[in-house]
Amino acid sequence: MARLAIFASGNGSNFQAIAEEIQKTGHTISCLICDRKKAYSFERAKNLGIKSYYVPYFERSKEAAEQEIAEIIEKEKADIIALAGFMRILSHQFVEKYKNRIVNIHPSLLPKYPGTGAIEKSYNSGDEELGITIHYVDGGVDTGPIIRQESFKRKFNEPLEEIEKKIHNLEYTAYPEVIKNLLDSYQ
Ligand code: GAR
Repeated sequence: MARLAIFASGNGSNFQAIAEEIQKTGHTISCLICDRKKAYSFERAKNLGIKSYYVPYFERSKEAAEQEIAEIIEKEKADIIALAGFMRILSHQFVEKYKNRIVNIHPSLLPKYPGTGAIEKSYNSGDEELGITIHYVDGGVDTGPIIRQESFKRKFNEPLEEIEKKIHNLEYTAYPEVIKNLLDSYQ
């Protein structure tokens, strides 16, 4: 049985979806790591009975923040790291240290629309097919080998709110499944 650490920065709806599914398996959510003090993710962690850590990035180097994160990962014995709306770019050194053990979810069909505002960018593009990507993290902005993509065809004049809902629902289903498979296969 393996241990998962989840990194988030904000609302944490993906964190919750992952936690609820993984808590049904024999695997353990070792902790939530969050870089924003007021993030709603902390509230969710409390309700789910999951330990959480606030790791600030401001007024110090990324290296120092990542050093603290690495110490938490060590202490919590996390095997796999899932980024769930974590809006920081991890350094190449950090990614190298946890090679093939960090995954991310992004709300577009990568390589299209990496970075922030991906849903709006996808929506405004007029692309007919929209979706999500789950991938290993390699130190770039939403780059790295793709594990799974899910998509749907947009309807004529479908409003942004509907598209957002569909994208998030795909995330909540696909990401916990991918993570469960990774935890199952972790030696
Ligand atoms: C999710 O849609 C996730 O795919 C996206 O942030 C949102 C976080 O929502 N991630 C990225 O854009 C990564 N570049 P949540 O905090 O409610 O899970």
